[in-house]
Amino acid sequence: MNNTKNIFYITTPIYYVNDKPHIGHAYTTILADVLSRFHRAQGNDVFFLTGVDEHGQKVQQAALKAGIKPKDHCDRMVVHFQKTWEKLEITNDFFIRTTDDYHKKAVQNVLRDLWNKGEIYEHEYGGFYCVGCERFYTTKELVDGKCPQHLKEPEYIKEKNYFFRMSKYQDWLVDYINRNPGFIQPESRRNEVLGFLKNKLEDLCISRPKSRLSWGIELPFDKDFVTYVWFDALLNYVTAIGYKQDDAKFNKWWPANYHLIGKDIVTTHCVYWPTMLKAAGIPMPKTIFAHGWWLVDETKMSKSLQNIVKPLDLIDKYGVDPVRYFLIRDMVLGQDANFTEEMFIRRYNSDLANDFGNLVSRISTLIRKNYDNLIPREDKPDEIDEEVRKNAESLPISVHKLINELRLYEAIETVIAFVRSINRYMEIQQPWKLVKQDKEKTGSVLYTAAEGLRIAAKLLEPVMPGKIADLLGAFPVHSDKLIWGNLKSGQPLGQLPILFPRVQTKKLEHKPKKADNKPSEKDINLVTIDDFAKIKLVTAKVMEAERVPDTAKLLKLQIDTGKEHRQIVAGIADHYEPEQMIGKTIVVVTNLQPVTIRGIKSNGMLLAAKKGKKLRLVTAMDDIEPGASVG
Ligand code: ME8
Ligand code: MG
Repeated sequence: MNNTKNIFYITTPIYYVNDKPHIGHAYTTILADVLSRFHRAQGNDVFFLTGVDEHGQKVQQAALKAGIKPKDHCDRMVVHFQKTWEKLEITNDFFIRTTDDYHKKAVQNVLRDLWNKGEIYEHEYGGFYCVGCERFYTTKELVDGKCPQHLKEPEYIKEKNYFFRMSKYQDWLVDYINRNPGFIQPESRRNEVLGFLKNKLEDLCISRPKSRLSWGIELPFDKDFVTYVWFDALLNYVTAIGYKQDDAKFNKWWPANYHLIGKDIVTTHCVYWPTMLKAAGIPMPKTIFAHGWWLVDETKMSKSLQNIVKPLDLIDKYGVDPVRYFLIRDMVLGQDANFTEEMFIRRYNSDLANDFGNLVSRISTLIRKNYDNLIPREDKPDEIDEEVRKNAESLPISVHKLINELRLYEAIETVIAFVRSINRYMEIQQPWKLVKQDKEKTGSVLYTAAEGLRIAAKLLEPVMPGKIADLLGAFPVHSDKLIWGNLKSGQPLGQLPILFPRVQTKKLEHKPKKADNKPSEKDINLVTIDDFAKIKLVTAKVMEAERVPDTAKLLKLQIDTGKEHRQIVAGIADHYEPEQMIGKTIVVVTNLQPVTIRGIKSNGMLLAAKKGKKLRLVTAMDDIEPGASVG
């Protein structure tokens, strides 16, 4: 046994306290949270850091506008982040504010050191300064004379300032990046940085005269200046873990495993930060990982652009877990992703309501009905059962590998594909039929499906900690390890939570079109488009199914037609078991006169193909939401 715990230190950017958190900020923070939870579940020792960036011009201006002190403004604004992270079930171990005393002291310590070592010097300088970015731009970096981020012309400013000798580390940095392929990820970002470093690196202006900006950390060697906000902010990654204050703590966590950032702040993290560390004699972080942007209508979300999607609104509407799931599932490593509520709903319905939710309700219904709600025994597994078991056993290995490569969207897809395969397995084994002939064999099938589900759920828990923890809580286990056989036979299945009810989408009414031509005499036996359009056929999803008592042939179904829930009675009980019907997408006629069959209301008719004694339901071949018109 390996008893040494791996250390895992992960950070997010510290967000500007001025903005309210939106989906973009939530994404990086959730990503860090999912990774932290994964590592904790693997028994690693985790430190997860997030926080806010509170100094600089923008904060000073906003406070001035609000007529309050900058610190009071920060105190007001920081709450938005803290509350949002709480609501999103973010398990950060620490929350740093750059106005915290220990941080200010440590930053001053670093500055004093670098000043004493001659890494910082005084110089008169003129340059293009973008207030939005809080940085100087070289003429080359400007696009049409404007800041490429804010599309505004920067101000030309001439003043005395303090400079960090960044340029002298250029060759070292290029060499370091070349020799450490994992340092900047993904590769596209690494190439971007190497491209940037083909140009001559300038020294970095790390001060602002107080006459222009007073809201910052005072330089320890010149009280007329404050520290440039990025120099202050980047140091949060070491000050939060005790740099220059608590050596034992610092040495335990540093170097960071991951600095997670968005692609907007690559230069500061991949050029400024490593050279600052090098000058201070601090080892490099292991990986700086820059993900893409969440876009709305193909443009980056930002406060100034007014297209922000507030995570809290989505959570209130759909719950925390699906929001976390969607964000992690739908952004591919390093690429941008477009955000629409429609895409969110589609993903939610197909993966969570359908694939996952159906499996849970099928398994629990069958166990409740046929085994007094006790987990059956794995008595007679056959080859098909064994295959599910083998796949379940190798699943954690492949998922962990993908997570260690930060391919979370693939990790999730791998788990959901396995869930889908258990649904198919159920279709093949037909436990709802088999149970009448061989209860022991059926027990094996249900045990296999339930244990597969438990392992899949356990792997999804870091992504959806709330719902999945509730679900797992219902499974009686020897231990919650990802090892096959930990599900306890003979023990009751607990109360299952309501997982992911399907989200109804508003459908456009399909208006029958008028045919232009009248039917000719010889077409009289044929029906026109108009005739056909009178019959309203739509897809519907079976939510519940049960036998009509004292009848042999009738099933009572609760269906979702996309617009409403309806009840229909169908004479298919000879051919289909109720459990088998749940989750099926069938085709129904929705504009039939309602009828009463055996005292039960039936509002609609399903379509089935019949020949002789054989009857098969008409269903949709691929996934389609309820309420799709059929024609
Ligand atoms: O840059 N898509 O803070 P910030 C994806 N204070 N991620 C996004 C995003 C989007 N549309 N919008 C924002 C700062 N992010 C500095 C950081 S660190 C020492 C100082 C995320 O509030 C992403 O992680 O502008 C991005 O890098 C970060 O928020 C920028 O946050
Ligand atoms: Mg920003």
